[in-house]
Amino acid sequence: RGPAALDTDLAGRHVVVTAGGTREPLDPVRFLGNRSSGKQGYALARTAVARGARVTLVAANTVLPEPAGADVIEVSTTGELREAVRKAAADADAVVMAAAVADFRPAVRAENKIKKRDGQDPEPIALVRNPDILAELSADRPAGRVVAGFAAETEDVLANGRAKLARKGCDLLVVNQVGEALAFGTEENEAVIIEAGGGETSVPHGPKDVLADRIWDAVARRWAAVS
Ligand code: CTP
Ligand code: CA
Repeated sequence: RGPAALDTDLAGRHVVVTAGGTREPLDPVRFLGNRSSGKQGYALARTAVARGARVTLVAANTVLPEPAGADVIEVSTTGELREAVRKAAADADAVVMAAAVADFRPAVRAENKIKKRDGQDPEPIALVRNPDILAELSADRPAGRVVAGFAAETEDVLANGRAKLARKGCDLLVVNQVGEALAFGTEENEAVIIEAGGGETSVPHGPKDVLADRIWDAVARRWAAVS
């Protein structure tokens, strides 16, 4: 495929990308969060715009420049992200869940700032499960909509990725290894794109934009397979 095809091969498609990491408030000033910077999701939005797609980027707590040409919706909690994605996905041809979604949220959100008291140990923080947005999107989609997720794994990366793809019911899972120095907040990434039905594409260590382009290639292949 020549460069001309690359320019516009997503033209006429609406794609929804989530980026960043959700935060779950404990009280008005504190939250449970994670280390996701949003860079991989922004790279996905940028490359999809460059390839001609209409792009909705649902951004959770990112501090990155808005990608030109994308519609950006800012959210913070998992509940907000879920609502925004559901809405945006209504007419979407693909949804890519690059955001790190909090698995749990505090069972109670204190109305006022939690205070410490002399001579008293802190109360334990009770948590409840958040809904699995990727699994919901995978279960609810019309034929022809491609749903992709990311898997952050620290051990048995491929085996865990395969099991996760099956559990979520999505079409594609981008599996990368994370840790203090790997992936989070860095400019580069290294991953394997696993496909439902068996395909596997290794993307060597390199810029997040390159991984993003390989992900759109895989999405476009799935569209071609169902049309
Ligand atoms: N995800 C989601 N909703 C959640 C949790 C995760 O949509 N409540 C999505 C993420 O955006 C990501 C994918 O699911 O695309 C995998 O996230 P990950 O944390 O690796 O998977 P989990 O199912 O939460 O498994 P684990 O127990 O390993 O964290
Ligand atoms: Ca998780």
